[in-house]
Amino acid sequence: MSSFHERTLVLLKPDAVKRGLVGKILTRFEDAGLKIVALKMAKISREFAENHYPNTPEWIRGMGEKTLKSYQEHGKDPIQEIGTDDPMEIGEMIKGWNVDYLTSGPIVACVIEGVHAISVVRKLCGFTLPADADPGTIRGDFSTTSPVIANELKRAVRNLIHAAGDPEEAAQEIAYWFPEGEFCEYKTTAEEVMF
Ligand code: CDP
Ligand code: MG
Repeated sequence: MSSFHERTLVLLKPDAVKRGLVGKILTRFEDAGLKIVALKMAKISREFAENHYPNTPEWIRGMGEKTLKSYQEHGKDPIQEIGTDDPMEIGEMIKGWNVDYLTSGPIVACVIEGVHAISVVRKLCGFTLPADADPGTIRGDFSTTSPVIANELKRAVRNLIHAAGDPEEAAQEIAYWFPEGEFCEYKTTAEEVMF
């Protein structure tokens, strides 16, 4: 792998697998000239799901803040909807629901490699909450769900896909999901003509 290439971790969450979107979603990455270098399907335990996420106070707060912003944009009152407007409290609820979500069916995990792979994959995924994700992105094109409906049903926002957020997350998550380092080295035709 040349020095300007990056690797990132992508999960196709249980809703993506159950909806038969694995092929369509992976095609988005292949079409962008990115390459799959590791791929597997797994049904994970609650403990494994919990440890997949950073679980830091900043990350928990961030999830709560995304909910509050979404409520505001959709004209909903958080106290009425979820009983609190404290981002930490909301984030803690979502943290538990994420474990239910990630263990609700099989997941496809893969390592995607390419130039600027970490940021490009995040852009192709789109914003966390599908109702607020741009059209053309995976989350924007294949879903319209939001915290407004998900919280009422006491579950995480089913947004089809996870992608590591930055180089640090990518390194940690790749090591977590592919501890044997089972990566395949090969050259794609896109790489030969694009760079
Ligand atoms: O996945 P991403 O990095 O875009 O977002 P995150 O802030 O790291 O949140 C992790 C996951 O928690 C999301 O992908 C959603 O499935 C879930 N979440 C949620 O259900 N409701 C929110 N308001 C924010 C996140
Ligand atoms: Mg994240």
